[in-house]
Amino acid sequence: MKIIVTGGAGFIGSHLSRKLIEEDHELLIIDSFHPYYSPERKKRQLSFVREVGSFSFSQKDLLVDEEELQEVFRDFKGDCVVHLAAIPGVSHSLQVPNEYVDYDIKATINTLRLAGESGVRKFIFASSSSVYGNQSDKPSKEDDSTGAVISPYAAAKYSAESFCKAYASIYGLDLTILRFFTVYGPWGRPDMAIYSFILKLMNGGNIPIYGLENSRDYTYIDDIVDGTYKAIMSDQSGTFNLGNGRPISMDRLISELRTHFPSLELHVTDRRVGDVTSTCADITKAKDVLGYSPAVSFEEGIKRTVQWMKEHEQNVL
Ligand SMILES: NC(=O)c1ccc[n+]([C@@H]2O[C@H](COP(=O)([O-])OP(=O)(O)OC[C@H]3O[C@@H](n4cnc5c(N)ncnc54)[C@H](O)[C@@H]3O)[C@@H](O)[C@H]2O)c1
Repeated sequence: MKIIVTGGAGFIGSHLSRKLIEEDHELLIIDSFHPYYSPERKKRQLSFVREVGSFSFSQKDLLVDEEELQEVFRDFKGDCVVHLAAIPGVSHSLQVPNEYVDYDIKATINTLRLAGESGVRKFIFASSSSVYGNQSDKPSKEDDSTGAVISPYAAAKYSAESFCKAYASIYGLDLTILRFFTVYGPWGRPDMAIYSFILKLMNGGNIPIYGLENSRDYTYIDDIVDGTYKAIMSDQSGTFNLGNGRPISMDRLISELRTHFPSLELHVTDRRVGDVTSTCADITKAKDVLGYSPAVSFEEGIKRTVQWMKEHEQNVL
């Protein structure tokens, strides 16, 4: 299959791109190396993809380079677009909300038009558990998102989902929306809790906890890649939660980290505005329709992440 991955130099994109090359697909990555976190780190992530084989790469910005990208899309003649490019991060979205309108909504509209105009058949959009807002502790099902979100990031994702549906109808795209639940693992995003906690602990610091009552449905990167790959290959489309289905409390996260860093110390502060208290995925639909089945336990995932960081952190910017 000929597959275009936008944001392929990012955390999830680089892991997914490796899998696509390993499975012998023809791959085009589009990434602008957006400075939300270090562009140098993104270039390293792209080298991590190159380790497994060759692919085409276009350093273009989906927000501003639409005209040049028309040629890129036309020449490649992709069958499928996996649209991961966005600025992530809930707390940053409170500082610069309009950038999320630009990068998470407008750039998505551009990508949909580029895909539709160039004859792409299948479009996969990376959405987020944040579209569920602050719901009760019961697992979120795909139909539970009502638009009652609590951060600009979530509002942008919810809106982008809606634009995906509009353009799927306009172009007859086969649309799949994947809602990822807090992803972690090697090359994890530096702004996210697990990665930044481990880095602080490796450097002998204490970790800031924004509210001990929080829980998250942490999902190991290999499971997210597996679920996304199954969605690419499936002849079924729709909206799917990709999570682990077992939320992890803050206490559990701390005790898991303590097995690797026995002298761990906490610094507890108030909950951050925009952060939901808990996330929990109902993954029944992804299991039944896509055959998704997360395989990496939290204990194992943390072990692998800590080990990778101890081995690679010196080289990571
Ligand atoms: N990591 C998670 O836990 C998580 C959870 C839910 C949803 N998501 C979504 O999954 C996707 C990937 O997330 P990630 O964690 O890999 O983030 P990331 O920041 O590591 O990757 C995003 C990539 O997109 C690129 N990009 C951004 N805007 C661009 C543009 N206009 N043109 C070209 N490239 C652009 C960036 O340079 C970056 O390499 C995002 O859409 C994110 O919102 C991630």
